[in-house]
Amino acid sequence: MDPKPLFLNVLWLITISSSGFVVRVGAEYVRPLPRKTLHFPWNSRPSSHPQQVHISLAGDNHMRITWITDDKSAPSVVEYGTSPGRYISVAQGESTSYGYLFYSSGKIHHTVIGPLDHNTVYYYRCGGQGSEFQFKTPSAQFPITFAVAGDLGQTGWTKSTLDHIDLCKYDVHLLPGDLSYADYVQSRWDTFGELVQPLASARPWMVTQGNHEKENIPFIKEGFQSYNARWKMPYEESGSSSNLYYSFEVAGSHVIMLGSYTDYDEQSDQYRWLKADLLMVDRKRTPWLIVLFHVPWYNSNNAHHGEGDRMMATMEPLLYDASVDIVLAGHVHAYERTKRVNNGLPDPCGAVHITIGDGGNKEGLAHHYQNPQPKWSEFREASFGHGELTMVNSTHAFWSWHRNDDDEPVRSDQVWITSLVGSECVAEKGHERRKSLLAP
Ligand SMILES: [Fe+2]
Repeated sequence: MDPKPLFLNVLWLITISSSGFVVRVGAEYVRPLPRKTLHFPWNSRPSSHPQQVHISLAGDNHMRITWITDDKSAPSVVEYGTSPGRYISVAQGESTSYGYLFYSSGKIHHTVIGPLDHNTVYYYRCGGQGSEFQFKTPSAQFPITFAVAGDLGQTGWTKSTLDHIDLCKYDVHLLPGDLSYADYVQSRWDTFGELVQPLASARPWMVTQGNHEKENIPFIKEGFQSYNARWKMPYEESGSSSNLYYSFEVAGSHVIMLGSYTDYDEQSDQYRWLKADLLMVDRKRTPWLIVLFHVPWYNSNNAHHGEGDRMMATMEPLLYDASVDIVLAGHVHAYERTKRVNNGLPDPCGAVHITIGDGGNKEGLAHHYQNPQPKWSEFREASFGHGELTMVNSTHAFWSWHRNDDDEPVRSDQVWITSLVGSECVAEKGHERRKSLLAP
């Protein structure tokens, strides 16, 4: 039986912060224990039947459809259209597979479809057979809503988080690393793919990688083999040479995905790509600039404290000069939101950092925080949950964090965030930004 959280002392807090009006609802309570890893019954079906269907944005007006078949001769075609059962378009894709010790993956299909209309429901079928799926493309205009949850895993709490996300109206899922917690057991990638299919086949899931995606074995296996084969992201479409870092644009938002476990020093490909990508951002077209990576830079939890320092020392000046609005990270199994911050101090021209590694994985929550709470830390709580980020217009976004209060989603933290485009920060830093980003 799942343990029930016991509420001890609920505190309702309303504060005025320097960045605007903030309503905070906090609570002290006994944290729920980890829930068991889910077991998935073996499902008898034809070997050519599509499994683990998920979709991701793939450049302007295109969507990548990914699925797996046991049958290695199954075709990588997607039929699609805007009416159920009437497929007026067809696209041919590519496929891959991999072996990992004694495991052989199925055939992993990646097929890009489009051009697609905005804010439109499409019906599609993979490989010419099996179930019909449907997805909605994001709007070209504001508002747009991102669902955010990292460190998901595949436990009872993961299911709870996914059920709560399914209740909200969102356009794109952002996942800042640690997906399946397969941890070398490759069949867990398959069960994770099945677990997320109902959501990930209906809305684009844009992910970056965490430590649980590494799965490297010294002298035998390089890292991220399974992740790269299964979760292909639009890196080629964004001028990157690696699936471990890329960017995309959707409805007035430029979103950058970075890799915490690939080289990020000033001579690295990732660093050079980031500079080039930031330089191409047009804040008139995309007023919102959002960055995701796995290991948080601002973390006052005892868990993983300081792990992001080296990456922060190298890359934070670039993000600051480019006036990044929001940074989303995972890794720490708890929730924390900062004020706008830079170089370790509250700074009205820095980014709001949010750690949201509390998707519900098997390792449980990170309960212990550093005290006193740092000046830059605005709200922190060790509970499972998910976030919702709505870019309402070019200047205002609404962030909320929804705690898994037993099996109910409870909005526990919320804040309006004002884009730096509407402030003097962008104008003031414009010259420095170009100087910094163009430097060899
Ligand atoms: Fe992690």
